[in-house]
Amino acid sequence: MQEPAGPSETSITSAQSTISPPTPPAPEKPAKRRAGLFVYLALLVLTAAATAGVMYLGQNIMERKIESRETAFKLADLDERVIDPAEWGKTFPRQYDGYKRTVDIERTKHGGSDAFQKLDDDPRWRILFKGYAFGVDYREERGHAYMLSDQDMTERVKNFKQPGSCLHCHSSVINAYRKAGADAGVADAGGFNWPQVMKGFEVVCAEPWTEARKRVDHPVACTDCHDPKSMALRVTRPGFVNGIAALAKSDAPTPHLPSIERWRQGNRAKEYDPNVDATRQEMRSFVCGQCHVEYYFKGEGKLVTYPWHKGLKMEQMEAYYDEVKHVDWKHGISGAPILKAQHPEFETWSQGIHARSGVACADCHMPYKREGAIKVSDHHIRSPLLNISRACQPCHNYPESEILARATMIQDRNKALMLRAEDANLALISVIEEARKAGLGDADLDEMLKLHRKAQWRLDFVAAENSMGFHAPQEVARILGESADFARQGEVAVLRKLLGKK
Ligand code: HEC
Ligand code: HEC
Ligand code: HEC
Ligand code: HEC
Ligand code: HEC
Repeated sequence: MQEPAGPSETSITSAQSTISPPTPPAPEKPAKRRAGLFVYLALLVLTAAATAGVMYLGQNIMERKIESRETAFKLADLDERVIDPAEWGKTFPRQYDGYKRTVDIERTKHGGSDAFQKLDDDPRWRILFKGYAFGVDYREERGHAYMLSDQDMTERVKNFKQPGSCLHCHSSVINAYRKAGADAGVADAGGFNWPQVMKGFEVVCAEPWTEARKRVDHPVACTDCHDPKSMALRVTRPGFVNGIAALAKSDAPTPHLPSIERWRQGNRAKEYDPNVDATRQEMRSFVCGQCHVEYYFKGEGKLVTYPWHKGLKMEQMEAYYDEVKHVDWKHGISGAPILKAQHPEFETWSQGIHARSGVACADCHMPYKREGAIKVSDHHIRSPLLNISRACQPCHNYPESEILARATMIQDRNKALMLRAEDANLALISVIEEARKAGLGDADLDEMLKLHRKAQWRLDFVAAENSMGFHAPQEVARILGESADFARQGEVAVLRKLLGKK
C-alpha cells in the first residue's frame, strides 16, 4: 500500500495504478458485437471506478490509521477561536512537541538559527542600507517560537514608527482580524468567516504597531495552517490569498503550480482560491508562502501586498513596483529610489529544480519521522541540513556527508558571487557620492540612480533570501550577475560624466 504522502506522493515517483483496463474482446459475429462493446465499456467504467475507489480508500485508511492512533481524536473540542497551541497539543502531542522545539538554536555553515547582528557580520550592509531602518538593526532569523518577541525587540520597531501590518506574518492574528472586522460592522457568518477577516485585516494594517500589538499573544499557531474541524491544511493570510489570485490572473507561466494552470483554462468566473483550487502537495508549500515572501505595504492603509501581479520572478516583481512607482526609501548616500527585498523564499523556490519536480517546502523542512508505528510530519521547522537523513535521503540515495557537501558547494559559490555583487554596488555608491561632491545633481545622475536601484534590488533579493542560493542556484547566480553588471554600468557612466564624456 502507498505510504501517506511524503516523497512517494510528489510527482517524481507518483504512484501509478497497476490495474489496467481489460483488452478489447476479439471481433465476433455482428449480432454479438454491440453487446460485447457494451460489456467492454461497462467493464472499463467499473475498473476505473474501482481503481479510484481503491486509491481513495488507501489514502483514507492511512489517514484513519494515523488519526486513530493519535490518542483520542477530539476535534470537537477545537474551533476557530482556539489559538493556544497547548490546547491543540492535548489532541496532537507529537506535532505540538515538534512545534515547541522551534526554540532550539543551532547553526549550519550558512544558515540555521541564531539571531546575530548581520550588520556586524558584514558592516558593508550599513552602507547599502544607509538612510533606512535596516541599516540600524538587521539580524539572522531564527525559529518560529521567536517571531513575535523578535519583532518586539528589534530597533526597527523600537526606534521607527511601524504599522500594524507587521503582525500579518509575526503572530497568530486571524482572530484579531475577525474581531476588528466585527467591530467595523461586518456581520458574523460563522466558521472561518472571510468577509470579517478581510475587513479586520484592513483595519489592523492601518493601525499603529503599538496599538495593533495589544491584539495578539501568540506567534504562528496550529490554526494558521490547519482547519480545526478537519485538520486539513489551509491558508489564512489575506496577503497570500490576494497575492496568489493576482498571480493566477497574470498569465505568467507557473509550471510548478498545476492548479493555477488549470484554473486559467476554466471559465475564471470566480477568483483563484487556494483553499478550493490547490492540490494537497501545493498546499504543503502555500502554508509557508503565507509569510516567506516578498511584500510591501500598499498605500495609506499600509495593506500587506505581495507583488505577484506580473509573475513570481525577480524582474516581474520589479516591473510591478516600477509600474506602481513604489520606493522603499531614498538612499542615504546616492539618493537613488531603492527597493528593499524581503525573504523571497517562496518566489525563489518557485524557480528551482525542486519546485519543478513537485518537491514542497514541507518535504524538506517538515519531513516525516517515525514515532513508533506511525509517521508524523516534523513540526520542528528548521534548516534541513540539520536533518539530512530525513529531509534529503528519502530522495537522494547518497551518504549524508556527500549530500551536505553538494548543498554547501552551492552555497559557498553563491556567497562568493554575492560578495562580488556587493563590491560592485558599493563601488557605484561611492562614485555617485564623489560625483555629487563634484557638483552633479539628480538630473545629471538620473540614469545612474536608476541603475543603482536595479543593481541593489537584485543583490538584496538574493541576500534577503535565506537559503544562501540553495533553493534555485542558477536563478540566483543569474540575478547576481545582473546586479554586478548594472552596478558596473552605472559606475562607468558616472566616471564618463566626471571626465566630461557622453
Ligand atoms: C529540496 C529541499 C528544500 C525545499 C523544497 C525548500 N527548502 Fe528551504 N532550505 C533548504 C536548504 C538546504 C536550506 C539551507 C539551510 C542552511 O543553510 O542551513 C534552506 C533554507 C531555508 C530557510 C532559511 C533556514 C535557515 O536555517 O537559515 C528558509 C526560511 C526556507 N528555507 C524556507 C523555505 C520555504 C518557504 C520553502 C518553500 C517555498 C522551502 N524553503 C523549500 C531546503 C529546501
Ligand atoms: C509577508 C510577511 C512578513 C511581514 C508583513 C513582515 N515580516 Fe518580518 N519576517 C518575515 C519572515 C518570513 C521572516 C524570517 C526571514 C528573515 O528573517 O529574512 C521575518 C523576520 C523578521 C525579523 C527577524 C530578522 C531581522 O530582520 O532582524 C524581524 C525583526 C522582523 N521580521 C520585523 C518585521 C517588521 C518590523 C515588520 C513590519 C514593518 C515585518 N517584520 C513584517 C515575514 C514578514
Ligand atoms: C505566519 C508567518 C509564517 C508562516 C506561516 C511560516 N513562517 Fe517560517 N518564519 C516566519 C518568521 C517571522 C520567521 C523568523 C522568526 C524570527 O527570526 O524571530 C520564520 C523562520 C523560519 C525558518 C528559520 C528557522 C531557524 O531555525 O532559523 C524556517 C526554516 C522557516 N521559517 C520555514 C517555514 C516553513 C517551511 C513554513 C511552512 C511549513 C513556514 N516557515 C511558515 C514566519 C512564518
Ligand atoms: C506553518 C504551518 C503549520 C503549522 C503552524 C502547524 N502545522 Fe501541522 N502540518 C503542517 C503541514 C504542512 C502538514 C503536512 C500535511 C499534509 O501533508 O497534508 C501538517 C500535518 C499535521 C497533522 C497530520 C499528521 C502529520 O503529522 O502529518 C497534524 C495532526 C498536525 N499537523 C497538527 C498540528 C498542530 C497540533 C499544530 C500546532 C501545535 C500544527 N499542526 C501547526 C503545517 C503546519
Ligand atoms: C521529494 C524528493 C526530494 C527531496 C526531499 C530532496 N530532493 Fe533534491 N532533488 C530532487 C529532484 C527530483 C531533483 C532534480 C534532479 C532529478 O530530476 O534527478 C533534485 C536535485 C537536487 C540537487 C541538484 C540540483 C541543483 O539544484 O543543483 C541537489 C544538490 C539536491 N537535490 C539536494 C537536495 C538536498 C540537500 C535535499 C535535502 C535538504 C534534497 N535535495 C531533498 C528531489 C528531492
